[in-house]
Amino acid sequence: MYTNPAGSYLLPSKVDGVASFRVRAYGFADSTQRLPGANTGRIVLLHHAGRLEYSNDLPASAHAATIKWEDARIRSDSVSQCQFCHQFGYMWTRRTKTEDQWATVISRMEGYGSVITWEDGREFRRILAASFKENPVETVLTPDVSLELPRAKVRERSFGTGINYVHDVEAGKDGKSYGVDMSVDHLWIFDPRTNKMEDLKLPENGLPL
Ligand code: HEC
Repeated sequence: MYTNPAGSYLLPSKVDGVASFRVRAYGFADSTQRLPGANTGRIVLLHHAGRLEYSNDLPASAHAATIKWEDARIRSDSVSQCQFCHQFGYMWTRRTKTEDQWATVISRMEGYGSVITWEDGREFRRILAASFKENPVETVLTPDVSLELPRAKVRERSFGTGINYVHDVEAGKDGKSYGVDMSVDHLWIFDPRTNKMEDLKLPENGLPL
């Protein structure tokens, strides 16, 4: 449940009893409140106590942006061979580790299906160990939520067949959405104005995905 821009919320319910809410907002500490039903509750959040707490609230991408890649090719291999499964930079993936600990994690990831070169392996563990030290990231997040969002309607559309697997979808500046199909290495492009879906074959890069 989200609040409106003034911070108010409404939870219509026919269920009696006490509701437990965990309230979250960027820049503030989480707060859990228990409110009796049919009641108006006022919830006050406290600002984070320090820089580390602010930093921990940032999205994974803010932490991933601190990775000091030195070579575009190695960075690109990490995108294609690590980040097709998960991002870098969320709490679990950014814990401080020695190079040896990174080597153990990376070989576990190879067991899951990551295909990397010897050089990738050496560079990933060196750069990730040097970059992720659990120091606070100084970026400030400026929440940018469209006021149209609370009135948004979701429309689903089916495409492809059972074999197709679009992993992530991005909204383009041109109003179209783009999704990469991991099963067949295609790009699906949907234009909501025409309701048309096209698909393009991605160029070969010699890697399985
Ligand atoms: C096939 C999917 C997949 C790929 C590819 C993959 N991961 Fe993971 N990763 C996972 C899963 C699932 C977990 C959680 C389970 C675990 O930790 O074993 C995980 C967890 C992690 C963690 C947190 C666990 C820890 O012990 O610190 C790190 C860091 C990580 N991955 C790094 C990488 C790196 C670096 C690569 C590329 C070399 C990579 N991953 C590629 C699926 C994947």
